[in-house]
Amino acid sequence: MKIGLIGGTGGMGEGFALRWSFRHDIIVGSREAQKATEAAKIYTKIAKESYGNRMTGSITGGENLGVTKSSDILLLSIHYQHIAEMCTQLSKQLRDDCIVISPIVPMAKTGTGFVYIPLEEAKKPAAEIVADNIPYRSRIVSAFHTISEARLKNISESLDSDTFVCGDDRDIVATVNNLISEIAGLRAIYLGPLSITYQAEILTPMLLNSATRNKIKNPGIRIV
Ligand SMILES: NC(=O)c1ccc[n+]([C@@H]2O[C@H](COP(=O)([O-])OP(=O)(O)OC[C@H]3O[C@@H](n4cnc5c(N)ncnc54)[C@H](OP(=O)(O)O)[C@@H]3O)[C@@H](O)[C@H]2O)c1
Repeated sequence: MKIGLIGGTGGMGEGFALRWSFRHDIIVGSREAQKATEAAKIYTKIAKESYGNRMTGSITGGENLGVTKSSDILLLSIHYQHIAEMCTQLSKQLRDDCIVISPIVPMAKTGTGFVYIPLEEAKKPAAEIVADNIPYRSRIVSAFHTISEARLKNISESLDSDTFVCGDDRDIVATVNNLISEIAGLRAIYLGPLSITYQAEILTPMLLNSATRNKIKNPGIRIV
């Protein structure tokens, strides 16, 4: 499968590229093609050192719009404030059958700790803004909000955690669940349709407040 990572030069992008390149062809996206190509070279070196000959995928880089055209799956590894502008641009290049994943957490740090922006500022959840700006709501899946970047990037580590998943089409959710299960120790927990994505997104500020106030490093969530 060809997996495009919009904003793939950032921390989460690196983690997803390293994890999924074991089996899939990853295209790291950036606003600058050269930045993406350089990141792809670095990620390839790390992945090959770890996986050796067992690696059947690849990592290349390109400008975000070109990446969008080539992708079966597109993961939006960008921040909340950039969703509307980025998705408006991408939507013109998006293939009809492309699945779009939003791991985006609308979060800010205030004097009281980490807060969920839609609740504080009466704004929409991240995946709802994605849905407002790309044509196919049923092809959007919201997931990965509580995954620690540091642990995702450490490919020798099992994540030993769950991630909540929201989406309207169960077949499309199943495809994303398969990708989730390919990340060692990560389990997908289906939460419901995209309209309740806020329940998944809001967990991250809660998790980070609990971590910082109780000195827990790189926390995750597990349903027992
Ligand atoms: N970090 C975590 O532990 C974590 C965990 C769960 C979910 N998330 C979510 O995952 C997403 C990515 O997080 P991250 O930590 O990887 O972020 P990051 O390291 O800051 O990377 C985000 C990428 O966004 C791109 N970007 C910057 N300004 C932009 C703009 N104006 N328009 C379009 N793209 C722009 C940059 O790529 P170029 O400069 O190359 O274009 C950058 O590499 C966020 O929504 C975050 O809430 C993060």
